[in-house]
Amino acid sequence: MIINKENFFYLETEHTSYIMRVLSNGVLQHVYYGGKIPHEELGYYHLMMEGMMASPIYLDDSVTSLDTLPQEYTTGGRGDFRQPALILEGVDGRRVNELVYVSFEILNGRPKLCSLPHLDVDTEKIQTLALTMRDKITGVSVVLYYSVFDKEDVISRYVAIHNDTKETIQIRKAASLSVDFEAKEFDFISLKGSWARERSVSLQTISHGEVSISSRRGTSGHQLNPFAALAEKNTKEDAGEVYGFTLVYSADFQISAEVSQYDDIRMQVGINPDTFSWKLQAGETFMTPEALMTYSADGFGRMSRNFHNVCRNHLGKCADKTLSHPIIINSWEAMYFEMSDKKIKKFIEDCQGLGIDTFVLDDGWFGHRDDDTSSLGDWFVNKNKFKDGLHGVVDCCHEHGMKFGIWFEPEMLSKNSILFEQHPDWCIHTDKAEPLESRHQYVLDMSRSEVVDNIFEQMAEIIEEYQVSYIKWDFNRNLMDVGSAMLEADSQREFSHRYMLGVYQLMERLNDRFPQVFFEGCAGGGGRFDFGILYYMPQIWTSDDSDAIERMEIQYGTSFVYPPSAMVAHVSSCPNHQTVRTTPFETRGEVAQMCNYGYELNVGSLTTDEKDMIREQIIRHKELEPLIREGDFYRLRNPFEQSVCAWELVSDDKKRAYVFVGFLDTHQNEKGEYIRLQGLEKEYRYYIKQLDITVSGETLMNAGVPLRYPTEEYVTRVFDLICTSQM
Ligand code: DGJ
Repeated sequence: MIINKENFFYLETEHTSYIMRVLSNGVLQHVYYGGKIPHEELGYYHLMMEGMMASPIYLDDSVTSLDTLPQEYTTGGRGDFRQPALILEGVDGRRVNELVYVSFEILNGRPKLCSLPHLDVDTEKIQTLALTMRDKITGVSVVLYYSVFDKEDVISRYVAIHNDTKETIQIRKAASLSVDFEAKEFDFISLKGSWARERSVSLQTISHGEVSISSRRGTSGHQLNPFAALAEKNTKEDAGEVYGFTLVYSADFQISAEVSQYDDIRMQVGINPDTFSWKLQAGETFMTPEALMTYSADGFGRMSRNFHNVCRNHLGKCADKTLSHPIIINSWEAMYFEMSDKKIKKFIEDCQGLGIDTFVLDDGWFGHRDDDTSSLGDWFVNKNKFKDGLHGVVDCCHEHGMKFGIWFEPEMLSKNSILFEQHPDWCIHTDKAEPLESRHQYVLDMSRSEVVDNIFEQMAEIIEEYQVSYIKWDFNRNLMDVGSAMLEADSQREFSHRYMLGVYQLMERLNDRFPQVFFEGCAGGGGRFDFGILYYMPQIWTSDDSDAIERMEIQYGTSFVYPPSAMVAHVSSCPNHQTVRTTPFETRGEVAQMCNYGYELNVGSLTTDEKDMIREQIIRHKELEPLIREGDFYRLRNPFEQSVCAWELVSDDKKRAYVFVGFLDTHQNEKGEYIRLQGLEKEYRYYIKQLDITVSGETLMNAGVPLRYPTEEYVTRVFDLICTSQM
């Protein structure tokens, strides 16, 4: 709900309040964000007083100073020396701005964020506050949009910058969100990583100055995810105050926390200003990507569930309840580039009767690709491997009860390709040096519409000809030599954003033209795991590391923001191709079960027992699917802190739950521990199949279930809970 009372704006979700005030001089003050409070007169609620200004810049009243005032969307050059959210540079080259309030509107639903992914816009239930501001110096108007997602306790923000002057303006920075917190000791939580070890949880103490995370890679990246949280000291999974922030965007981002001279914190989220600038001609509008924020009074767990819920209820393809996520078998780890028509058909035949829905032909099928040095951009079938095209393979899939899926890396170009011969200028390059290859490939200039059109046409032809039902969309390198031959010198810094807009447009066009195709995102594993991609693709390959033990950590960290229903996990062969570790087949299945499920191994080389296990695992996965899609996710044991990992899924009505426990190593002669469950109904009694006991939710949440440590290596335990009665 959004309420305006005099000069106050109250944004309310089920458990939170966000309050702003327009001061008499037009400055937009941030008043409060936290647990829900009534919409009362809060004129008294501030700490500003005469004499507390390090640099006394008075605004009307000798008390209010921009240098100390908690604000909403800040500018620089007129007395606020902290980070500005917006930097507009006029024709005089100066970067002096002062935003003042003009008017407000409360909208039902919200305007569509053109060309960018966004939470849904149609729903009548979503209210949006549009606050129009004007920069007193350049005359540009700025609309701050705040949408309230009540049930999920999420507020979304984005900003539209309209150049209604007669001059060209350069936008040097345009954060999607800026918010000032009154003094409080917070830690800064983010998700760090690298290839094959994505998204482990990082905690930094913040002190004076700035902490920030960012990407300059043209993608959100393996290294730092576009998410950060401010958490009070010692916050746990189920206790402590946390403010979580993320961005619905997949390219260069920055999230920063700046601690001021009075220990206040300014949090900002948006496009990375280090690699960005935008020339805004008279009459034009620039829209920032959408940023999301949530508040949890109950620790990290609730923060994550809020993000999971907003993703599953409101984010594009992730919110499409009609989509069924197929169980797949992927060819990559089973054969890499070593494929032929005969080999693939045998591979498909071996899957007969296992319950797998879709076969995915991963890499190596196009151009004349035999390894990673050629053919990206040549999206036609490799006739050396498939003499008559892929019809035989597709028919074989259908004959064996499976659909056909295929791999593309649409944004890439090999030097050794026909597309490069024809259009060498389509690769991102500068005129001053040879373009740099990475994994032997270049990147296409997706800011050019003819490039997007070409790739669209090539992909469309394959999809149509081979009744493709599933596409794995890969992206295996970062952007270098950035810039475009099509952009003027003073617009070159628009490139990374324009690149992403081109990619989003391609994704949107393919989704529109082929609604029957199910897309999976991938970027060398989880290098572009963000809400931007999840708008177009309902699931993402979580990591190239398919080792069950390392996957526990990766899936655990990823769940900080992203729901299990957005992650993909496969059972692969052992010794594992990344870590050379051997784990039990059951463990591999159980670790992968919490995600969208599949296999990435050669079924023909499995034992009969292992094949039987596949059948059982698939039946089991289908049983668990409602919990994975809709259930609440609880992290019970942190694998980064101890060698036990545990999580739990609880159905909406709390009548069903599933607990997973995985052991990352083994020790002799240890006793074990009790694991307290979460999220159950304390009045309900639950039958736990594996222990053959019936106990109340209250007991399970307070006393827990006994977990005796195993002596075998890398094993798992699972518990299925069914409510049998209410006490
Ligand atoms: C990287 C992906 O993450 C892998 O799963 C696989 O698709 C390869 N690329 C193919 O080149």
